[in-house]
Amino acid sequence: MRIDIVTIFPEFFDVLDLSLLGKARQSGLIELGVHNLRDHTHDRHHSVDDTPYGGGAGMVMKPEPWGDALDAILGTDPAPVDDGPIVIFPSPAGDQFTQRMARELSLEQHLVFGCGRYEGIDQRVVDHYSQRGRVRLVSLGDYVLNGGEVAVMAMIEAIGRLIPGVVGNPESLVEESHEDGLLEYPSYTKPASWRGLDVPPVLRSGNHGAISTWRHQQQIERTERVRPDLLPRTLS
Ligand code: ADE
Repeated sequence: MRIDIVTIFPEFFDVLDLSLLGKARQSGLIELGVHNLRDHTHDRHHSVDDTPYGGGAGMVMKPEPWGDALDAILGTDPAPVDDGPIVIFPSPAGDQFTQRMARELSLEQHLVFGCGRYEGIDQRVVDHYSQRGRVRLVSLGDYVLNGGEVAVMAMIEAIGRLIPGVVGNPESLVEESHEDGLLEYPSYTKPASWRGLDVPPVLRSGNHGAISTWRHQQQIERTERVRPDLLPRTLS
């Protein structure tokens, strides 16, 4: 998969050299391009923002640097394409990012992330690229971050680990929270007793059927307790 990121803080993404995603980049499973939005400004101060039309607090990101930066990645052909790169703008006003969305996006060939700052990006950037291809506004959750960078890091990690070959043991992806609509069961390792707390005996019984039933019960109990909102969708 090819991933391009447009940001005014390219250093933010240096950490993508590390860990599983770093390895995936070395092996060519993920190809990453990080682009500084300010390289696409043409004024002395490299400004990327301006005051909002209609008034109000804060600044809005100007459309021209975004247009130049995204054209450099996507090309300038105005003909609409249905199966080209998906351009994703992280925004608290977007669709909720979920494991299902991560899985869908992990099947794509090319993702382009545009990290907004301040009060957001001039709406015409979204409108323009929506006329030319696939654009999505995606929210990490119902809270406000200072900019899209942290949201993009989270999305890239969630999406990247679903690309075949990125996580060494693909079975570990199956029994995780949200994969079957439930939260995951609690895990234990040695020692069998620690600070007066014992590992649940069933896990040491060797009875695989009983272990599997216990784990499923734990998933349901945990989901009922912590995230009851997930249950109707799973059980119906
Ligand atoms: N940018 C600011 N807040 C955000 C959020 N909650 N999700 C995605 N992008 C954001």
